[in-house]
Amino acid sequence: MKEKVRLAGPVDLADRLEKSRTMDRPIHALAKFVREKIGPGGLRDWLHGVPMGKPLHPPLTTVTIGCWVSAALLDLVKADPRATRTLIAAGLGSALPTAAAGLTDWSSLHREQQRVGFVHMMVNLAAVGLFSGSLLLRLAGRESGGKALSLAGLGAATVGGYLGGHLAYRQASGANHAEQVAHLVPLGWHDLCRIDDLPQGRPVARRLGYIQLFVLRHGGGVTVLADQCSHLAGPLHQGRIVLEDGVPCVVCPWHGSTFRLGDGSVKHGPATAPAPIFETRVREDGTIQVRPLT
Ligand code: FES
Repeated sequence: MKEKVRLAGPVDLADRLEKSRTMDRPIHALAKFVREKIGPGGLRDWLHGVPMGKPLHPPLTTVTIGCWVSAALLDLVKADPRATRTLIAAGLGSALPTAAAGLTDWSSLHREQQRVGFVHMMVNLAAVGLFSGSLLLRLAGRESGGKALSLAGLGAATVGGYLGGHLAYRQASGANHAEQVAHLVPLGWHDLCRIDDLPQGRPVARRLGYIQLFVLRHGGGVTVLADQCSHLAGPLHQGRIVLEDGVPCVVCPWHGSTFRLGDGSVKHGPATAPAPIFETRVREDGTIQVRPLT
């Protein structure tokens, strides 16, 4: 029997977008520009959402979209035009910090994610342009033109939102990539390796069942973290050991997330979630034992 021809749905188109190389040049240039202009530390960490422990961009997005959807509803029920104008203006005002946070996250993603993110950004820019035009027309007393542009803007924002969802859920761009680690280790203590087999002051990887661990011997002690960076699963054991404000940290080799070795917490993004840490003890025969810190 002949198989029915399946039409490409939105998810297929977004999947194709991931693989399309046509926009790679501007993507590379823009990502580099953003990384240079918003350097590591203070502002960059805030825009990533490090102080909140989760990305800042998604909650800001709900403010922008919420204002514009509400404005469209007010148009529908023929509410006071001043209320509609206020909501459109509030959406435009919140679009700037929303875009700044999104752009900062985007600059530290894999290329496939950046391709989808780039189109997401362009479509949302179009939405900003359409809502700006709508506001100007409404202020000039041309209500019906303003309503038409609002509808077009909402359509663009819907496409932008769909691509944002693809980026967040299908491509897991803002998810914690280390969350599952502790659940893959059975309760209790587990033998890991012998302390004499570890180099001094240089992290190495060791396997424990299904997972890989970052193991650092320092002085008489051992620090064990999940090896998987919570940002995009980079291998932490290949990272640099540094002192940040006198606190020993490991810097992920992929995008520079910095985790404190004492408790796995995030010192610098783009990661916002901590590195899962393991409790350790050394048996008399020199065997290191670990268990997830709960
Ligand atoms: S994977 Fe991106 S900073 Fe570690």
